[in-house]
Amino acid sequence: MTKAQAKRPATLATRLRGKRVLVCVGAGGVGKTTTSAALALGLALRGQKVAVVTIDPAKRLATALGLQELSGEPSRIDPQAFAAAGVEVKGELWAMMLDAKRTFDEIVARLAPDERAREEILANPVYRELSTAVAGSHELSAIAKLYELYEEHDFDVIVLDTPPSRNALDFLDAPNRLLGFLHGRALQVFLAPGGLTARLFGRGTALVFAIFARVTGVDMLSELSRFFRSLSGVIEGFGERTAGVAELLRSPDTTFLIVTSPEAEPAREASYLKQRLGEAGMSPGELIVNRVHRDGLQGHSVEEVTEMLTDGLGRALASRVAGNLADFDVLMRRDEETIAELSGAREGQHPILVPHLDEDVQDLLSLARIAEYLFA
Ligand SMILES: Nc1ncnc2c1ncn2[C@@H]1O[C@H](COP(=O)(O)OP(=O)(O)O)[C@@H](O)[C@H]1O
Ligand SMILES: [Mg+2]
Repeated sequence: MTKAQAKRPATLATRLRGKRVLVCVGAGGVGKTTTSAALALGLALRGQKVAVVTIDPAKRLATALGLQELSGEPSRIDPQAFAAAGVEVKGELWAMMLDAKRTFDEIVARLAPDERAREEILANPVYRELSTAVAGSHELSAIAKLYELYEEHDFDVIVLDTPPSRNALDFLDAPNRLLGFLHGRALQVFLAPGGLTARLFGRGTALVFAIFARVTGVDMLSELSRFFRSLSGVIEGFGERTAGVAELLRSPDTTFLIVTSPEAEPAREASYLKQRLGEAGMSPGELIVNRVHRDGLQGHSVEEVTEMLTDGLGRALASRVAGNLADFDVLMRRDEETIAELSGAREGQHPILVPHLDEDVQDLLSLARIAEYLFA
């Protein structure tokens, strides 16, 4: 056990007692999806009925969670799957995944005939407004789902993974932004029968879409309007619910867990997130530093370790291995510095540390290992 952990007043399980909604936020790629699943598993191990809403899980993780398809409803992970992995779950773990559809920017990047057409489309104001709204719609469906699970099901705890937003907190504003957009003029015009778009936005805009359609064969305008029509299902009723959602996100039942890796950039984002959550009246409950490097040489020198390994590995290999372990120590020291900074900024409240595992975390057993660290 590290010093930081020894000083911790209570385990995560204790600190999360009474919380019904856990939202994992953080920069892209730091381990939000992994942490969400491991948190949910850890709580289920302790006897709770838990639902985890994941967004774009890696394929193998989705399979491990029994998520072959997007059903729109959580399904229970077969207790036999846990038994097979040697993991004993006292409660229930339910999981579902949301489809974080590709953003239109990606579609444009893929389909645009050349750099110039691409830049032109991306810079187009109407396009910009539409694509922001589309991105917002993933976030909206995540939050709408959370609210529905909270209101209509009897889960003890719901864990929500969040989409890889450019700004991790955008998704909290997304419902309002999207509703504003849908009720605004742009969409009305957009969904209006042909011709009107051109008249209202000027020929430039219509031309962009027309050229785009001719060159790529993708009729962006009808794609988009089909998309917005299909969205109306999610939107319906969400307007009246936004107050309830806003309340839920700020309620004492809900806590945000900020996930970061020990790299400088995500750590900076984590500090910024904490501040923004506070300003928005939400509770940044815990900070989780994932993928922390562990001691490689364990206090020995490179020479000593080479010496120790030489009998088994031969001189050349032993020295390579020792070199690798020394690299780990460099990363470990970098991690320690970042963690110290993060702890300092949190007035001595120590973050929860999860080590960088040698394997990718994509099955129940390795999730259980992560859970062990989270709840240590
Ligand atoms: N502690 C860890 N040790 C090793 N690999 C990890 C760890 N946490 C996450 N990973 C791996 O890192 C990758 C990204 O994690 P993921 O949870 O999908 O990040 P995010 O959801 O924040 O984008 C995945 O392949 C996952 O298996
Ligand atoms: Mg993810």
